[in-house]
This record gives sequence, C-alpha cells and structure tokens, in this order.
Amino acid sequence: MYVGVDYYPEHWPKDRWPIDADLMHKAGFNVVRMAEFAWVTMEPEEGRFDFAWLDEALNILAKRGIRAILGTPTGALPPWTLRKYPEIMAQKPDGQRLTWGMRKHNCFTSGVFRLLSERITRALAEHYKDHPAVLGWQTDNEIGGHPMCYCHSCRANFQDWCRNKYKTLAELNRAWGTHFWSQTFGDWSEIVPPDKFDEHNPHTCLDWKRFFSWLNVRFQKEQVDILRAVCPNHFITQNFMGLFSEINYYDLAEDLDFASWDNYPVGGKLDMANNYNAALAADITRGLKRKNFWIMEQTCGSHGWGTMSRNPRPGELRKISYQQLAHGADGQIWFRWRACTVGREQYWHGLLGHDAKPGRRYEEAARTAREYHLLDEHLANTTVRADVAILYDYETCWALQIQPAYEENKYHQVIARYYQALRRAGVSVDMIKPGQDLSPYKIVLAPDLYILPDTLARQLDAFVKTGGVLLADCRTAVKDETGLCHVRTLPGLLSDALGIRIEEYEALRGGVEYQVDGTAGLPGTFTAIHFADWIKPTTAQVLAGYKDWHMAPYAALTRNKHGQGGGFYLGTIVKEPSFYDALVRHLLDAAGITPEFTAPEGVEIAIREGAGKRILFLVNHTEQCQTVAVPSGKRDLLTNKTTGPSVDLPPYDVAVIRL
Ligand code: GLA
Ligand code: ZN
Repeated sequence: MYVGVDYYPEHWPKDRWPIDADLMHKAGFNVVRMAEFAWVTMEPEEGRFDFAWLDEALNILAKRGIRAILGTPTGALPPWTLRKYPEIMAQKPDGQRLTWGMRKHNCFTSGVFRLLSERITRALAEHYKDHPAVLGWQTDNEIGGHPMCYCHSCRANFQDWCRNKYKTLAELNRAWGTHFWSQTFGDWSEIVPPDKFDEHNPHTCLDWKRFFSWLNVRFQKEQVDILRAVCPNHFITQNFMGLFSEINYYDLAEDLDFASWDNYPVGGKLDMANNYNAALAADITRGLKRKNFWIMEQTCGSHGWGTMSRNPRPGELRKISYQQLAHGADGQIWFRWRACTVGREQYWHGLLGHDAKPGRRYEEAARTAREYHLLDEHLANTTVRADVAILYDYETCWALQIQPAYEENKYHQVIARYYQALRRAGVSVDMIKPGQDLSPYKIVLAPDLYILPDTLARQLDAFVKTGGVLLADCRTAVKDETGLCHVRTLPGLLSDALGIRIEEYEALRGGVEYQVDGTAGLPGTFTAIHFADWIKPTTAQVLAGYKDWHMAPYAALTRNKHGQGGGFYLGTIVKEPSFYDALVRHLLDAAGITPEFTAPEGVEIAIREGAGKRILFLVNHTEQCQTVAVPSGKRDLLTNKTTGPSVDLPPYDVAVIRL
C-alpha cells in the first residue's frame, strides 16, 4: 500500500531536502506526488529544460525508499508563455482575456497551448522513463477547474464539433429546436457559444457543456498518448474532485489506469451529511473505472486561500483516511507535507506547519501509515461489493443546471438523500454510469433522471421485469438526449415498470408544503417540499398519499409489481430524512436484502471483500464513544485481539475486523 504526501522541494532550500526525506521515511511514507505546478522551474524559458533539481530531490527520496508520482505541470502557465503567446489565455464572453496570475486559465483550442503541453510532457517523460524512483504520472491537476473560453478559435472548434456530431444542419436544427426564437441556422459558421445557461437555448447549452468536457478530455488524452508511448511501465492517473461535475468524469477516466481524488472534508460543519459526502465522492471515484482508487490529496490541517477552515480534531485525520480506505482507496497522499511560506496557499496547512516541527498531525499520519502497512496483506485484492447501485449521470446533471424545474433541484443533493439513507442502513452502494450492465445489482436507484434516452428506459424496464427493484422520482424521463421534451405522458417508457401516469405536476414555491400521509406499509406523517407530481396510479399500490384537498386523489409514493420485480416512484421531495430511511427499508425488503450489520448513528459500516477475504470497517464519525455489536471470535486487525460481542470506539476511532 502506498502512503505519503504531496511534496514541493522547489519551495524549500536544498539543505532541507534530506531532513524532509528522513522525516517522511520515519513516518512510514513510501510515496510522494510532486511537480504538478513546477512548469517554470522545469522549463525556465521556452525549450530549455532543467530537471536537475528534480533529479536531486528524487534521489534523496529514493535513498529512503520513497518513490514518486510526477504531475505534468500544465496547470499553471509560466509568464513567458503569455509574453510570447497572448492567445494562450482563455477569453471571457465579453472578449477580454483572463488576467494572468492564477492557474488553469488557458484556452484549450489554442494550438500553442497544446504544443507547449505536449512538449513539456514529452521532455519529462523522456527524462524519467527509466528512473527507478518514478512510479507513475498524474496528468495536469484537477482537470476541469477551468473557465470556459469564448475565443474565436473555441467558437470555430465548437462549430466543427457540432458538424461532426450532427452531420447535417437540418439534424442540428431539429435537435436544438431552432425554429423557436428564429434560431434556424443556414450555415455552420452562424453557431454561437452560449454564455447564459439560464437564458440561452437549453439544447445548445447542453452541447456546449459536452464540448467543453470533450476539450478537457482531449487535452488529457494528448498527454496520456505521450506518456503511454514513452513510459509503458508507469501508471497514469488524474486527481478528480469528487462531486465536481463540469467534466464528464467517466470520459476523463477512460484513458487512465485508475482514478484518484482530492478529499477535503473538514471545510464544513461536523455532521454526518458532510461525512457521507466524502463517502459518496469515494464511491463516485470508484465507479469511474469500477475499481479501487487513490487519494491524491487528503486534508491534513486547517486550510483556505484567504480565510481558514477548522482544524482537524485529534484522531480525525486518521478517521478520514480510514473512511476512504473502507471505500476502496488503495493509496493515500496527504496534501501537503509542509505549509508554504510563500504564495496563495500559505494558509493551506500541511502535516508540518511553517516551522517544520513534526507535531500532532505528523504523528497521527505516521500512526496511520504504520497501521496501513500492517493491513496491507489483508486488504490486497479486496474492494467494495454492492447489491445496490445509483445511476450517476453527468449529462442529466448539466441539463438540470440549465433548467432545474424547481429552484432547489441540485443533482447531488437529490442523490445524497437516498445515498445517506442507504449508508445509514449500512448498505454498500456503487455509483454507476448510465448504460452499465445492471445484472450485478438487486436495486437500482435512478434519482432525477431527467435526460432519459429510450435505450436506457428500455434497459431499466427489462431490469425490473427480470426481478430488479427500481426507484425513480420526480423529473424522471422528461427529456431525450438533446434535451427535447418527450411527448409521452410521464414517466414515458417507464410507465409500465412504475405503474403510474403523471399528467400534471408543479413546483412548490415560496414555502408551500403539502402533508404526506404514509399508509400502513409506511406509517407516519411527512412533509412534501419543492415539487409535486400529481401521480395517478394505474397498476401501482400507494405507499403514501397527500392530505391537502386538491391533492387527495394523487399518490406521493408508489410501488408497482412488474414482471418479477418492482418499481417504486417518489413524486416529491420529503423534508424528513426518516422518510428516506423507511423508503430504503421498503426497497431492501422488496429485493430480499437484510443488512448484515447495524451501528449507532454516526458510525459508518463498510466492507471490503475479495480473494476469499471479508474485512469489516467501523468508522466513528462522532465526538462521542460508541459501542457497536460485532461477531465474536474474529480478529481485530488494529488491536490484534479477538473480538467479543461488541467493540468500543472512542471519538473518531475506527475498527478493522477480519470476518
Ligand atoms: C487543490 C489543488 C492543490 C491545492 C489545493 C489547495 O486540491 O489540487 O494544488 O491547490 O487545492 O488549494
Ligand atoms: Zn479559446
């Protein structure tokens, strides 16, 4: 297992480097990520390369058994690039170029940028292809955090992209509904990139977002092609940003060996929702390539660019790491080794502070690293295995940003309501790409599946018919791939699977709420907020209905039998999280799943399995002691003791038990 830090020797005097490496070695670290923003240090002027400093740092690290992942440094542009090639900077819709001095401000169709990116990538690859300390590569850094560029070249490239996609203008005009507002194009050159996503043609906006994502993926691919050709023995990864959604991460992950992500969970409040977001992001990252992943940056102190977050509590750094380990992280790297004395990120604290004295955070990371090395053999070839999947679709997410239908319709929040309830029940979840084979799953949730191509609808219908349990909810099946509204009565091709008809619906604005009454199957009184479908059941059974007089004829939650399986539909958003717990119990019941373990609120349960092994993780996210029932007679891998009927977990403590 690889554990270590993000390390920037170029920020420190050379006589410090061996001291750093000794301290890392002492902590049990065996990997660093380096160089992802060091372009100007590696290429101080165009075409003149200097890798001597990096060679020296790598050799110092290698002597202590520490290997490196090198980042291609294209995330920040050296000043000479701008001096020589002003068109390298992205352009705003008003025609102004962005101001140089931040990072990730390049234009992606700039031929100069693409050539410079290829040249530094090739030079680095050639120099390090046989270096024993180099393990692999990270492409650029957090690809996707760029502004969209509206320059002439990007506009022309968008027109080409459209021509390539639609082949004929007639087809583009149909797919974009251009007879509305006199937009029918008579020539490809008339197409204009949209900039106001809440006002422009929604079909154009959706394709523009697709194009922007594609540009980022192409940029990475150009680097990957070089790295693959020159360094066939090295892995290639990218540090994704968890819940970030401006790039189609499935496409970006396609060309990589595995995905990684950057986890900063202490920015917000100390609450479970926050903790489960880090789990959700982990599951999304694991879903990108359907395999274990790495953490390329993990929080290790108070952080911020101007103001700071809270400081991780004692035990919290270790707890954060274990949560990711439990969800499939096979490598973990803390960001960063030492707080920088210069630049915008002075307040982004490392394991060491500005004073470089190893203290509490360093010791906690070292303890975690030592434990990880002991767990290594138990975790080898294990991953998370789930009976439950949630469809996670970037295009639906973009379409909802363009037209959310109700103000509060945030794709990740919609997903999180179900995800959190599933995790509270101790159920493992796979986040999957639409179109992926559903046969491994007993339950599929398809929240907010606004863009529903017919092929996907038919796949979901077949999944239910052959015994699967499907949950869909409001705004499902509204549009096709290009964002045109389907003309079928909702929920369109899912009507048979769900056994309902929706002819009318409404957003609940200005604090309007409806009372939802559960039936005997789902007892309780709840509150409908934000949106309501006026559901008429056809073959479905009503699990919850409305109290308000005009809503009394309509269902809020339904359950249908279809073939061998069941289709559930929730036509609203319910305020009370306990409603989602009850709903999840129904889904599990319908699928014949009984969660194996239960834990008090705030203790997360996760299991990794494979190669004949099953490893149970218990993660105490709370600041209280918790007691969790576990099977007796098993090996607690951290204490090396045999388990009794329960384990006690102090605040932020974890247990890892071989079942
Ligand atoms: C991101 C980046 C890092 C660093 C941190 C802190 O995660 O990948 O380079 O900038 O944020 O700002
Ligand atoms: Zn551009």
